[in-house]
Amino acid sequence: METTQISDIKIIKSPTSKIDSVDFETLTFGKQFTDHMLVCDFIDGEWHQPIIMPYAPFEMDPSSRVFHYGQAIFEGMKAYRDAQDEIWLFRPDQNYERFNKSAIRLAMPEVPEHIFMDGLKELIKIDANWIKKGNGNALYIRPFMIGTSDGVIASPSLNFKFCIILSPVKSYYSGEVKVVIADHFSRAANGGIGAAKAAGNYAAQFYPTKLANQKGFQQVIWTDDTTHTKLEESGTMNVFFRINDTLITAPVSERILDGVTRKSLLAIAERDGIKTEVRSITVNEIVDAHRNGSLKEIFGAGTAAVVSLIAGFQYKDEYFELPQVADRFATQLKEKLNAIQYNEAEDTFNWTVKL
Ligand code: COI
Repeated sequence: METTQISDIKIIKSPTSKIDSVDFETLTFGKQFTDHMLVCDFIDGEWHQPIIMPYAPFEMDPSSRVFHYGQAIFEGMKAYRDAQDEIWLFRPDQNYERFNKSAIRLAMPEVPEHIFMDGLKELIKIDANWIKKGNGNALYIRPFMIGTSDGVIASPSLNFKFCIILSPVKSYYSGEVKVVIADHFSRAANGGIGAAKAAGNYAAQFYPTKLANQKGFQQVIWTDDTTHTKLEESGTMNVFFRINDTLITAPVSERILDGVTRKSLLAIAERDGIKTEVRSITVNEIVDAHRNGSLKEIFGAGTAAVVSLIAGFQYKDEYFELPQVADRFATQLKEKLNAIQYNEAEDTFNWTVKL
C-alpha cells in the first residue's frame, strides 16, 4: 500500500477500489461506502495523528463505553459535483461547530478544526471519483465520534475515536412521506440531549417510528414532552408548515436540532420575500388550519432528506391529507437550495466552499 503524508495527516491508499461494483443509479441511502475513511484517536488527553486509510472494520474491546452507555455523536454533511467538475461543500463550518457542541454535551473532547476540516477535505479529494454529477447525486459525509475506553463503569470514556466515512447517495426518501404526530412518546426533553446530534436521540425514536411504520407512516412528528401540543421536529428532519402564504417552523431549543438545511431554507425564504415565522406551532393550529383550508403544505428539511414533502398526517384517530397546491414553497425552496449547492446559482450567502 502507498503511504504519504499531507500536513499532519498520514495517508495509506487502498491498492484496489470497489467503485466498479457500485451501481450509482440504484443507490440505497447510506449503504455503500467509498474506498477510504479517516480515523483519529484521542488517547491520554490528546489527539493523535489523523490517518486516512482503506475503509475497513474496527477492532474494539467489547466493554468499550460506546457499546454500554451510548457515548456517540455524529454529523451529516454533503459534497456536490457541479457541471464544470468542481466539488463543493455546503456550510461545513456549521456542521463543525455543531459537532463540537454535541461533543461538549456528551462529555467528549472537541475535535480540532484542522483534523475535522483538513481531514474531510483530504479524504474527499482521495475518493472524489465517487461524487457523480447531476442534481440529486451527492456524497454524504458522516463524521462521528465514539467513546472507546474499556470497562463497564458508568463514567465518561477517557479515550475516543473520531472517524469520517463517505457514502455516495441519491434521495433519502423515495415516494410520499406520511407522518404520525406523537401524542405519547417523546424524542427529547428540556435539559436533555435533543439539541445534540447524539446517536441515542435516534435510537430512542426507533421503537415509536417502527409502530408508525407498521401503520403505513414513514415518520413521526415529535411534540414537546410535557404537553404534546407543540410540533417540534421529525425523526430525520426539521419541519416547516405553510399556513396561507406564511412559512412557520419551531424555534430551535434544548429539544430541537439546529438544522443546517432548516436555517438555510429560512434565509432563502426571507431573501426572496416569503413571510416566515419562527415560533411555536401547535397541533390544534394545524388541525384548525386544515379544516378551514389555510394549511397548504408541510415539509421536512435535513441534509439527508433535503426537502421532503409530507403528504398527510395522522393525529390520534384522524388522518389529514394535505392539499395539492400549485407553486409549492417546498419545491421553490428545494430548487433554490440545490441551485446553490450544485453551483448553478449565485451563492449570495457565501455558504459554499470549493474543495
Ligand atoms: C442528516 O440529515 O444528515 C441526518 O443526520 C439524518 C440521518 C439520521 C440520516
